[in-house]
Amino acid sequence: MRIPGNPRSQFLTILVILVLLVMAASAAADKTKSADQEKKYARPTDASLYVGSETCKTCHEDMPSKGFYKTYEDSPHFVTTLDTKRGPEWHGCEACHGPGKAHVDGGGDKTKIFTFKNASAAEISARCLDCHQYGEEHSNFARSVHLQNGVSCTDCHDPHHAKESQFLMKEKQPVLCYGCHQDKKQQFNRPFHHRVNEGMVKCTDCHNPHGGFLTRQLRATSSQDTVCFKCHSDKAGPFVYEHEAVKVEGCVACHTPHGSSNPRMLKRSQVNLLCLECHAFTVDPGAPPIPSFHNQAQKYQACTMCHVSIHGSNTDQFFFKP
Ligand code: HEC
Ligand code: HEC
Ligand code: HEC
Ligand code: HEC
Ligand code: HEC
Ligand code: HEC
Ligand code: HEC
Ligand code: HEC
Ligand code: HEC
Ligand code: HEC
Repeated sequence: MRIPGNPRSQFLTILVILVLLVMAASAAADKTKSADQEKKYARPTDASLYVGSETCKTCHEDMPSKGFYKTYEDSPHFVTTLDTKRGPEWHGCEACHGPGKAHVDGGGDKTKIFTFKNASAAEISARCLDCHQYGEEHSNFARSVHLQNGVSCTDCHDPHHAKESQFLMKEKQPVLCYGCHQDKKQQFNRPFHHRVNEGMVKCTDCHNPHGGFLTRQLRATSSQDTVCFKCHSDKAGPFVYEHEAVKVEGCVACHTPHGSSNPRMLKRSQVNLLCLECHAFTVDPGAPPIPSFHNQAQKYQACTMCHVSIHGSNTDQFFFKP
């Protein structure tokens, strides 16, 4: 191929072509990645490939050995063994590890059984989702930010060595989450915070780690309102006079949800600065500018001294009263 121009511009042209090629290749890789994430586990149905849990236990009697559950029979997954309505591919050990006859015939040949060890996050999750994709809680895991970033069920759950009595957790919250989201710990240590570190509020009160339909894997209340109303129902209204900031932009227009150095977890250290972000003369076209007599003398700085019902009011347009 002849590339026109002097050596310098030829070099640049080649560089541009190379960059474009790399971009195209990674776009293709992204595509296969997301196709892979949607992939389902094709559960082999030939009954002769299966040996049943009792056979597995002749060599692996100590599964699980460490952790909360002492035996497999104690653990919540034992109920799958009792599922007699479905074929052997849904029973016990082999419901997760796949057919085990070749592994057994090979005297425990490690290469002939699915071990979860070197499997991709998508592959692991597909096995679990085969049984767990139903219901609101997990149905969107394939598209969750977690799976998209290579986090699978077994990063948080461990069927054999769970430390916790509930939900086969590897760790309890918030320690589990801080393992990967270290910066959040410091946010919950700020002077004003939701008491997550104290165990009063959980990360999963607000987030669904299995994904959902809102941004930031946030949960909604059962009536599909913002998650905050679950505990702060007094802010939900409806009010005769709504403060549009609350209705339209939501609670995080004014509050930092995890924690803040400012009282009431406000985004700004002084309330007037917060309000003026919208109520100054030029900022938010929907928000009326403060009246001229709000001359920002001391008296007018504490906006919520007068506008007390800042989240909405049933009796007063200017939020002077509830
Ligand atoms: C004849 C004895 C025997 C039977 C029966 C048996 N295994 Fe194994 N299994 C082994 C041996 C030996 C290993 C290798 C242990 C090692 O190297 O640490 C092994 C390893 C494994 C591993 C782990 C591989 C790894 O990389 O650590 C899994 C998972 C496993 N077996 C599952 C099963 C399941 C499920 C069944 C029943 C379908 C089963 N085994 C039945 C002997 C057996
Ligand atoms: C609900 C799914 C599930 C079932 C049922 C299940 N396993 Fe596992 N097993 C796993 C996962 C996941 C791992 C990998 C654990 C990890 O990554 O920490 C694993 C790991 C193992 C290992 C590797 C060693 C270890 O300690 O992690 C062996 C051996 C094993 N399983 C055997 C069995 C046997 C035997 C049974 C039946 C008695 C069984 N499994 C039932 C999901 C399952
Ligand atoms: C980022 C961590 C994380 C990942 C990844 C994750 N989970 Fe969970 N899961 C949790 C936490 C935390 C809870 C407990 C929720 C609570 O306390 O409200 C839970 C609860 C559960 C429960 C019991 C509660 C219920 O509502 O059914 C099941 C079943 C479950 N997870 C299955 C899965 C499966 C299957 C996957 C993969 C497809 C998965 N989880 C991936 C963290 C995770
Ligand atoms: C063959 C179907 C099946 C597969 C595959 C399966 N599970 Fe389960 N799982 C169940 C059943 C059934 C229960 C018990 C439900 C109950 O008690 O309500 C359960 C319970 C759970 C629980 C809740 C335990 C509790 O304390 O309530 C978690 C967490 C869980 N499974 C995670 C996983 C993970 C992670 C995988 C993949 C490694 C997986 N499951 C694979 C059927 C399955
Ligand atoms: C009181 C509800 C609430 C609790 C409890 C909560 N979060 Fe959040 N979190 C939110 C909201 C709301 C956002 C979105 C903020 C935004 O859009 O500005 C968010 C954003 C995030 C984000 C993405 C944005 C960022 O800052 O990186 C992560 C990651 C996160 N939270 C992790 C956690 C973890 C981990 C915990 C527990 C230790 C936790 N959250 C507890 C409400 C909560
Ligand atoms: C194994 C590591 C790991 C664990 C454990 C983990 N996360 Fe994540 N999480 C990630 C990664 C990676 C991302 C994507 C990159 C990012 O936003 O930091 C993510 C993203 C998120 C987001 C942001 C979603 C968005 O839209 O930006 C939230 C919220 C979140 N995680 C909450 C949690 C909660 C709650 C827990 C505990 C129940 C948890 N995570 C446990 C690795 C983890
Ligand atoms: C327009 C800004 C703004 C928005 C939007 C907003 N708040 Fe507030 N909020 C404030 C201010 C200012 C205070 C402090 C009032 C005071 O000091 O008297 C406050 C105080 C609070 C308090 C503590 C005092 C009390 O009244 O209980 C809670 C709880 C609260 N807000 C929750 C919420 C929730 C939940 C939402 C979303 C529905 C929300 N806020 C939306 C400005 C806002
Ligand atoms: C699981 C329940 C729960 C959820 C969900 C929740 N909160 Fe809270 N919130 C609390 C509790 C409990 C307090 C009391 C403060 C304490 O811990 O002393 C509180 C206090 C507050 C305060 C006042 C803090 C202060 O300094 O007085 C604000 C503001 C607030 N929450 C905003 C929010 C916002 C915004 C959301 C949604 C992103 C939200 N909350 C979701 C339970 C919750
Ligand atoms: C995110 C932008 C935003 C923030 C921050 C905000 N507001 Fe508003 N505010 C609005 C909008 C939009 C309206 C609705 C205007 C309308 O209905 O015509 C409004 C309406 C009002 C009204 C009623 C005005 C009328 O004529 O009915 C008052 C009073 C008010 N806000 C005070 C405050 C105070 C005090 C603060 C600080 C605690 C604040 N606002 C913070 C956007 C905001
Ligand atoms: C001393 C009490 C007081 C304080 C403090 C105060 N206001 Fe007001 N505010 C008023 C009064 C009185 C009105 C006029 C109500 C009327 O028109 O009847 C008003 C009206 C408003 C309006 C409505 C303007 C319109 O044209 O509809 C906004 C917006 C407003 N204030 C914002 C603020 C902000 C932002 C602060 C803090 C910087 C603040 N106020 C502090 C008493 C106060």
